[in-house]
Amino acid sequence: MSDKPRANVVDMKPVHHGGLDYASLRTNGIQPGEVTDFSVNVNPFGPPPPVQEAIASVDISHYPDTLYLGLRERIAAIHNLDPSQVLVTNGTSQAIWLLALAYLDSGDLSLIPMPSFGEYQTACSLMNSKAQHLWSRADDHFHPDAGIYSAWIRDHRPRIIWLCNPNNPCGYCLSENEIASILEVCSTYGGLLIVDEAYLNFVDAPLDLTPFLESNHLILLRSMTKDYALAGLRLGYILGMKTMISHLQLVQPPWSVNCGAQSAGITVLDQQSYYRDTWQQLRRLTDSFYLSLKRAEWIVHPTRTNFMLIRTGRGSHTRDFLWEHHLLVRDCASFGLPEYIRVAARFEEDNQRLITSLQAYRESTSSWES
Ligand SMILES: Cc1ncc(COP(=O)(O)O)c(C=O)c1O
Repeated sequence: MSDKPRANVVDMKPVHHGGLDYASLRTNGIQPGEVTDFSVNVNPFGPPPPVQEAIASVDISHYPDTLYLGLRERIAAIHNLDPSQVLVTNGTSQAIWLLALAYLDSGDLSLIPMPSFGEYQTACSLMNSKAQHLWSRADDHFHPDAGIYSAWIRDHRPRIIWLCNPNNPCGYCLSENEIASILEVCSTYGGLLIVDEAYLNFVDAPLDLTPFLESNHLILLRSMTKDYALAGLRLGYILGMKTMISHLQLVQPPWSVNCGAQSAGITVLDQQSYYRDTWQQLRRLTDSFYLSLKRAEWIVHPTRTNFMLIRTGRGSHTRDFLWEHHLLVRDCASFGLPEYIRVAARFEEDNQRLITSLQAYRESTSSWES
């Protein structure tokens, strides 16, 4: 018997994500609280006290409800859907893996508009399926041309199209018409359009794609880790038609969402006015951060959500320089954008501190280059 896993597993590459590197913190003797983290796109306002209270009052000696009934009903009500159209997951990351498990056969083709979130590729690799990367142009702020994509899909008939909207790392949003045109092509041959809306709540006037679920060729993904600031608890969900959801449920490991996450999930949905207010404040902070970066003559791409791409020349150098100041940004090399960093908006004084340190970085590199 061989000690080797499947060949495609051996070939899989770990995905790079933003966030604190706990091993490096330990090596450098830095406490997590000493770092100002711009590398994750999480709501900096954090959860309100009732959420902590809800988690504290959970009886952890019981197994969690594997059907997530209470939370599922609440989510369904918010979207005007039936609970059978909702699957609660251990973050959107789990949702992505479940979709690959349920829908991709070895050799199937997927389309990933690039640049985009790395887990789509990993999920495809896990199933030994192929993913075609189609790149959009920096001149267009990486906004995909829906016409070109639709034509490509018509010609190649991918099993899955992984669309990240709002896009990570670029921050653009496709319009309803653009998505509808891609979905229409999928419907002609039986393709599945997956729209990852992890950052939708941060957007001003977000699209509601739920009426398109009836096409039977659309799945929507939501994360509750960023907008509701529950990153440490892991919570997300899938919206789709009843049969699709029941198939996805079959491949989900039991008790994927623990009691604390379920209880917190229900509580955050009771705190909508608190969160709506924080999302609005964060939009203002993002706009002012973006304008300040432009005024400081950085090349920044416009964003609809709470983070943005900045072209600094060498993202990894910028990241290392800022890290010395205990500021953490996302080096975008793993997105295929080595000249960029991605930063999420935080509070005004944090944003100003980053801009000041970026200026110091610019001065250090120009003296180094001259
Ligand atoms: C586009 C996108 N989808 C999904 C995820 C994963 O979210 P979660 O924390 O809910 O697993 C991320 C996290 O960075 C993301 O950027």
